[in-house]
Amino acid sequence: MSKIIVVDPFDYVVVGGTGDLAKRKLFPALYHRELDGQLPDEARIIGVARSELTRDAFKAQVEAALREFVPAADIDEAVFAKFLNRFSYQPNNAFTVEGYQKLKDTLDEHPDRVRVIYLATPPSLFGPISAFLAEVGLNGPRDRLVLEKPLGHDLPSSQEINADVAKAFDEAQVYRIDHYLGKESVQNLMALRFGNVLFESIWSNAVVDHIQITVAEDIGAGDRATYYSKSGALRDMVQNHLAQLLCLTAMEAPASMDADSVRDEKLKVLRSLRPFNAEDLTTNVVRGQYTSGAINGESVPGYATELGEATTTETYVALKAHVDNWRWAGVPFYLRTGKRLPVRSSEIVIQFKSIPHSIFRPYTTDQAVPNRLVIRLQPDEGVSLRLMTKDPGPGGMRLRAASLDLSFKDEFELERFPDAYERLLLDVVRGNRTLFMRRDELEAAWEWVTPILNVWSASDDEPKPYQSGSWGPTAAAMMMDRDGRHWHEDMR
Ligand code: NDP
Ligand code: BG6
Repeated sequence: MSKIIVVDPFDYVVVGGTGDLAKRKLFPALYHRELDGQLPDEARIIGVARSELTRDAFKAQVEAALREFVPAADIDEAVFAKFLNRFSYQPNNAFTVEGYQKLKDTLDEHPDRVRVIYLATPPSLFGPISAFLAEVGLNGPRDRLVLEKPLGHDLPSSQEINADVAKAFDEAQVYRIDHYLGKESVQNLMALRFGNVLFESIWSNAVVDHIQITVAEDIGAGDRATYYSKSGALRDMVQNHLAQLLCLTAMEAPASMDADSVRDEKLKVLRSLRPFNAEDLTTNVVRGQYTSGAINGESVPGYATELGEATTTETYVALKAHVDNWRWAGVPFYLRTGKRLPVRSSEIVIQFKSIPHSIFRPYTTDQAVPNRLVIRLQPDEGVSLRLMTKDPGPGGMRLRAASLDLSFKDEFELERFPDAYERLLLDVVRGNRTLFMRRDELEAAWEWVTPILNVWSASDDEPKPYQSGSWGPTAAAMMMDRDGRHWHEDMR
């Protein structure tokens, strides 16, 4: 049974409160926490944006968004009304100090509360907004600043944003969101690795052949096409979400779940990533772009058609990474992500080596298939372990592969998995930074991918086309093929 602990009284300011992220993710997430009774009576939510709106007009926008993005079955009208009543609105252009002063006056009505200021705005505003917040004194010990991704578009721009924010806020007050860290299944990865004695001793190059990390989406760039056209899959997914999954998979056991213990270990992984050289970029990094095709039987246009112009933005990336340390020397990490793939499915595959010698050969020509641990992150969150067993019945000592399968939903009789933002938004109130990225981590991840971006932008090469509904460009399959391996595509 989950345990609901009401958090301390807070004021949550969402700068960018009229935007897509706030309406589609943040407010529905807070509503679900309300539904579970986790919000204290005093809590307030204050939207900030340039639009001149009255409180009622803003509440009407929030209400419409909640009715669209919260499943109807989860709407309890009494809770809904209570939740809506928490909202107020403060019009403010990010560049005018008067608005911040008004905001401070509102927040100072309750000087003892935790104050969270969530910047759901374009990242170019993070530096200026931080400076204004500091100017009016909204950077005191109780103030926490949440920064949404993307934090920059390469290493220098990320360093610049972080440096600007650091002039106004202490690192301990800054919460950088990577929503993958808030996913239950991603936290389960830590539970699996460090809550069981079984795995640690086999979690290394002694028995692991290679690791695959896949985040596949069946959706296209969709409503966020303009943002995506400037970003592409490497910046949008690999630098953050996939890099974080790699860290959690490869890191050493932290001394505790304390934020810096975990982040120190993740940072060590990022710093052990082998830099890409020119040869890697042609053989071990594949970028693709979807063309028209069909998803679930429905025809969909190609990315360039959706965007209305030819573009070199990649909607797919596959790459081979190496973590150069004692534990992982010689074990490739294959990462891939893409839009308009056949299914929405994210998983981590730990592929173990073959047995060193088969004692069954006199009885069977069957090869023992190597063990494989699949950690399913979404959907159908769970774990499956492929084992070799004896094929039942007569016929000699023949082997057959079978799976030990754990579905978290069935095992724990869950009706729903909380959205990642539900956990993260309240972790900020709790002051728990374990699931947020530290500045050095973020910059190390940018340092790893920036050489790829630089080479791509200087080259005439274009992303390789792949049909919507396929598993990406053939070059990604060939990259595996050259290593005598193949992608795990048996996803449900
Ligand atoms: P939107 O464009 O939908 O919203 C931007 C918000 O910022 C609006 O509320 C806008 O309101 C406000 N805003 C813009 N300029 C100013 C300004 N000068 N002063 C005050 N407010 C301003 O963007 P999204 O909500 O989609 O994204 C917000 C951020 O979150 C972006 O950095 C995005 O990349 C990131 N993100 C978004 C995700 C999503 O699913 N949408 C997912 C992950 C990250 P107004 O115009 O009235 O000022
Ligand atoms: C976001 C990316 O960070 O993650 C989107 O900007 C992507 O492009 C999304 O679709 C995927 O998140 P999830 O939780 O749906 O796997």
